[in-house]
Amino acid sequence: MSKMKPLESSSMRLKVEQAVLEGLRTGEWKEGERLPSVRSMADRLGVHRLTVLKAYSRLEQAGLLASRYRSGYFVKSRESGTGFSDSEHEEHWTYAARPGYRNRSRLSDIHRQPVQYRMSEALLDPALLPNRFLAAHAKEVLDQHPMVLSTYSTVMGDLSLREGMAQYFRDRYGIVVAADEIMVTTGSSQAIDLVSRALVKPGDKVLIERPTYSPAIDIFGQQGIGMLPVELTPEGFDLARVEELMRLEKPRMFYLNPTFHNPTGYTVPGEQRKALIELAERYSCILIEDDVYYDLYFDNPPPPPMFYYDTEGFVVYIRSYSKYIAPGIRISFLIARPSVMEAIFPLKALSDAGTPLLGQKIFQSFFFSARMQEHIVKLRLAVRLRKEALERVLARSGWQWESPDGGLNLWVRLPEGLSAELLLARGLEQSIAFVPGSICDPIGEMDDRIRLSYSLLGEKSLEEGVERLIRAAEFV
Ligand SMILES: Cc1ncc(COP(=O)(O)O)c(C=O)c1O
Repeated sequence: MSKMKPLESSSMRLKVEQAVLEGLRTGEWKEGERLPSVRSMADRLGVHRLTVLKAYSRLEQAGLLASRYRSGYFVKSRESGTGFSDSEHEEHWTYAARPGYRNRSRLSDIHRQPVQYRMSEALLDPALLPNRFLAAHAKEVLDQHPMVLSTYSTVMGDLSLREGMAQYFRDRYGIVVAADEIMVTTGSSQAIDLVSRALVKPGDKVLIERPTYSPAIDIFGQQGIGMLPVELTPEGFDLARVEELMRLEKPRMFYLNPTFHNPTGYTVPGEQRKALIELAERYSCILIEDDVYYDLYFDNPPPPPMFYYDTEGFVVYIRSYSKYIAPGIRISFLIARPSVMEAIFPLKALSDAGTPLLGQKIFQSFFFSARMQEHIVKLRLAVRLRKEALERVLARSGWQWESPDGGLNLWVRLPEGLSAELLLARGLEQSIAFVPGSICDPIGEMDDRIRLSYSLLGEKSLEEGVERLIRAAEFV
């Protein structure tokens, strides 16, 4: 079938996962029913038994299957949240978190470690945020709109904010969009969740960058969506590969973070953006453009968002400002043409009936002020200095990376034989945290990579932290 396969073992495992998802979709195996044994599935698909076991256990982690000691794997029932019939339900009921969140909780586990050198979080140092100004704007909003706390937002979000953003996108990027095509969401994580629930159903397939923003893997996995990884390099994608996947696998959507990508910092070139739109139109595949870092460039602005090139409504654009304005109010925008918005609207209504109004008003008051423009200019410089401090020390290690032109992360290749997981274990002992590559990989590999975020620590701490990390690597 496919000529290109990054790794034989993972492509085989994906084959098993797809076969199971297809069986669930077509009803070959129904809720509560037992799947073929590992042995018979291996014979059926011509793969090794271990590959089947890995695939079953990943689908179990994704919340689609449940295993029973000595009995095999069963299709989970949606209502009970377990794969067992009602009579068995009580017996096997457990307080454990839904397994689909394993990856996410790994990340949260790392974030929770009380370390001194925290390079694991792609967050801005709160000291770099305009806290006093925000506080002044918050006070102003409460003075000007005394009813703001006694009022719900509309589901789509405050109209005057959406109108202001429509005008901003027009003036700033030449993107023509109506206020009705903009929904305010509580962070872009909510937007990704809403879009995938609206457009994709369990058993469908989506294209996803490899590596990618790890909570997106968790969101899709938890919804039972099959993920087809597409390798992302500093030059962008292998478009022939993308086309092949779109043609053969008919994915419903492609989730991308094309500008100062998390975790790599890479930016998909302008030419590829246009080509991707053409492919999306040809194969009816919606592109979900998650654009959190667009404004965080160091020298030159990045190419226009893919949404800019889209004339037929194949791009859903997600633009969060929670990273660099106020993570505390999590304001993000989901922009989509009316047919797509119609599918998303009821889910947002069910989810929270609208993002809280106070945060929207504070955001609006600050975002359209002259202070906001000063803030972003200063921020670019401050983040760049931190990145350069980290790179200066890291250069002594002999490790490799592409220096990003924006964003908050460095994607580092470790020398041969050095495992990111083992380095993390060692690093935590030394009070250092970072993200091991496997967490960002939809197929859970990339143990030769780490993500170092340079936005949370000051320059001196970054230098000390990286020095320690390089030393720690000698003892792995
Ligand atoms: C690519 C990407 N998307 C979404 C988010 C989450 O943004 P928000 O805080 O708006 O949910 C992040 C945060 O790290 C991110 O890197």
